[in-house]
Amino acid sequence: MINSFAEDVQQGLSAPQKFLKSKYFYDDNGSRIFQEIMAMPEYYLTDAEFEILSLQSKQIYEALNFDRPFNIVELGPGDGFKTFKLLEYLVNAGKEFFYVPIDISQEAIDALTKRLKEKLPDLNIKPQVGDYFEELKKNIVSQYPSLLLLLGGNIGNYPKDRAMELLGLFNEHMKLQDKLLVGFDLKKNPLVIKNAYDDPHGITKRFNLNLLLRINRELEADFKIDDFDFYCHYDPMSGEVRSYLVSLRNQSVKIGVLDRVFDFGYGEVIWTELSKKYDFEEIGELADCTYFKLLNNFLDCKHYFTDTLWEK
Ligand code: AVI
Repeated sequence: MINSFAEDVQQGLSAPQKFLKSKYFYDDNGSRIFQEIMAMPEYYLTDAEFEILSLQSKQIYEALNFDRPFNIVELGPGDGFKTFKLLEYLVNAGKEFFYVPIDISQEAIDALTKRLKEKLPDLNIKPQVGDYFEELKKNIVSQYPSLLLLLGGNIGNYPKDRAMELLGLFNEHMKLQDKLLVGFDLKKNPLVIKNAYDDPHGITKRFNLNLLLRINRELEADFKIDDFDFYCHYDPMSGEVRSYLVSLRNQSVKIGVLDRVFDFGYGEVIWTELSKKYDFEEIGELADCTYFKLLNNFLDCKHYFTDTLWEK
């Protein structure tokens, strides 16, 4: 019996243009490397969203217009660093709510819960490990209104049609007047975007190569990491950053669990990630197409990023 990771790797490496899904970056080691990415000065997304939630939590709360206790359901909270500011504001202002972070990494959710319990002992937290939609199904029966959070620009990792599908599915799992706060990284000076991904410290390269290490470990493969490099580029027209692993020579790699050998040519690339940047027109279209009403765009002072609040 092969698992879905093995199936996806098989499908991606058998395709004429090889690819690996970026959701597999986040094993426990990958989640740690992603923390390093978020701490880099070049990765402006972290500071921009932190600023929004530090300075505008009150305005966000007021725009929710909830008149009774509510749930905050966060999809993929990571280390919860940004959300902390919103939670801190709400706890200190004496608002009654439950915080429900949902993540696929047990390690990430344990660390988050521990940190939040230390820093905000009065926070009501109900952490969940698992699939977003399984957990959202439980939430739809809650008697309380909900605010869903999809922060950090995670939506940018989906192609536009998949993003639409995902947001449409969220809508189906929400009650009337529930709200959704989504972080979108905005189009800006292309150099700023390029430096955030093609970073001079090599951390994003390590993040990508970790995927091969994960395949080695979990699927009994023999990728030689030194024989692969990392390449990414930003296209200001489409707003897409695309990341790749590059084979540095002709080579064959055995994947034991699949009992198969995959060939890689010199210079051949494996597409690993899309990080799409948006403009306001595209954000408005996405909200319309998925039956949400766009209430507000909360922006950082440089207008690099928006947390946009939508209502069902
Ligand atoms: C998680 N996601 C929003 C990040 C991004 O910006 O696309 C993942 C990442 N990949 C490279 N750097 C950061």
